[in-house]
Amino acid sequence: MKLVLVSALSLMTMAAPALADDFKLLPDGPGRDVMVRVCAQCHSPEIAAQQSLDAAGWKALVDQMANNGANGTDAEFDTIAKYLAGAFPPK
Ligand code: HEC
Repeated sequence: MKLVLVSALSLMTMAAPALADDFKLLPDGPGRDVMVRVCAQCHSPEIAAQQSLDAAGWKALVDQMANNGANGTDAEFDTIAKYLAGAFPPK
């Protein structure tokens, strides 16, 4: 039984995609992990993909979420704003 469990686990690990979550709308990039951790506390982090903002716009939106109660350090919010500005620039 133990052996079966171990091999099932290793199969799952091998089959796992490079990204550890299902947020397909969020492109890979530096800061993505921080963004998912901080921005998934209240709603899906994928709602960010509906926006196309410049760097100042993302900074303002992230500040707004911090005011909503998002839990993160200033450095983390900065990282998130930069990730989002790169991932979802103005159209
Ligand atoms: C403490 C809860 C909370 C956290 C954490 C949070 N949000 Fe939100 N978010 C909200 C609420 C409440 C709304 C809807 C009201 C509003 O727009 O402020 C919202 C709305 C949004 C919207 C839609 C805004 C619009 O105008 O359509 C986006 C985009 C968004 N959040 C992005 C983020 C990002 C990026 C993060 C991470 C920095 C984040 N949220 C973290 C509570 C949160």
